Amino acid sequence: MTKTYAVIGDPIDHSLSPALYNPAFTFLGLDCVYIAYRIPKGELDYGIKDLKKIHIAGFNVTTPHKVDMMRLLDDADDECRLVGATNTVVNTDGYLKGYNTDVDGFLDPIRKRKIDCKGCDVLLIGAGGAARAIVAGFAKEKIHKITITNRTQERAEEIVNFARQLGLESDYLDLVRAGDMVKNFRFIVNATSVGLKGMGCPISTKNISKDSIVYDIVYMPVETPLIKQSKEQRATIIYGWEMLLAQAMKSFEIWTGKPAPYEAMKLTLLGRF
Ligand SMILES: NC(=O)c1ccc[n+]([C@@H]2O[C@H](COP(=O)([O-])OP(=O)(O)OC[C@H]3O[C@@H](n4cnc5c(N)ncnc54)[C@H](OP(=O)(O)O)[C@@H]3O)[C@@H](O)[C@H]2O)c1
Repeated sequence: MTKTYAVIGDPIDHSLSPALYNPAFTFLGLDCVYIAYRIPKGELDYGIKDLKKIHIAGFNVTTPHKVDMMRLLDDADDECRLVGATNTVVNTDGYLKGYNTDVDGFLDPIRKRKIDCKGCDVLLIGAGGAARAIVAGFAKEKIHKITITNRTQERAEEIVNFARQLGLESDYLDLVRAGDMVKNFRFIVNATSVGLKGMGCPISTKNISKDSIVYDIVYMPVETPLIKQSKEQRATIIYGWEMLLAQAMKSFEIWTGKPAPYEAMKLTLLGRF
């Protein structure tokens, strides 16, 4: 029987996920199909009931449901519990188990470059859902300290508390001052949506140098203004598409039990930009 997978969220029309997973299933000769399924905010319970009715084999969860989905799970892996959000669910006869592949997906490009994060100081720009997974990732890598800067101070302070709960040193930095302070950090990570569609740069890049590692999780376009400007300052660059691909590969492996076809998925993904 054909297995059906989905991504749920709202908006979902422009999701790259079907274009990423369907060729991967075909490449491995798996009888599986992946669809984008719009579930508006407030309609998650009904949406999940419907997915169970069609015997969905598994699904990805994106904005705005990553946190809310937690209460509908029957089980959750450690990472998912730690972050308090899920992006990957397996359905076994109506029993839903959640995973969070954003944490390792975020770390994957860092590990691929053999960058040792231990003892590093990190500047994290942004305090939304993705920021929590990033903090959990850096906690795993035993960094020294993570400084959070964000447009809304209150949300940044929530992330500071979360980081402290995970045993990290953490503090808040005013977004206006962040550009002047970047020399104090080895990593500068953008987890805001600033830069999406090539619009805007979250901080001033004038003090970014060849010693900085700039990781922008925004993946559309590939070269965000932050990445373009940081390249000019000769910083080490990590692209948002690398995280997108890595977290998708991990979901694929959870669902199928097979290694995800990296090259096939990468070619499809980069072909879509
Ligand atoms: N590469 C990947 O695999 C991957 C994975 C997850 C997410 N992402 C991308 O990461 C971005 C954030 O995702 P999320 O799920 O964390 O979103 P979210 O929960 O909605 O958080 C959005 C963040 O962006 C900030 N922000 C939004 N507009 C801003 C503006 N005009 N000026 C300054 N700050 C602004 C928000 O600040 P306030 O708190 O002040 O509102 C908040 O920190 C999105 O672009 C998403 O596509 C990429």
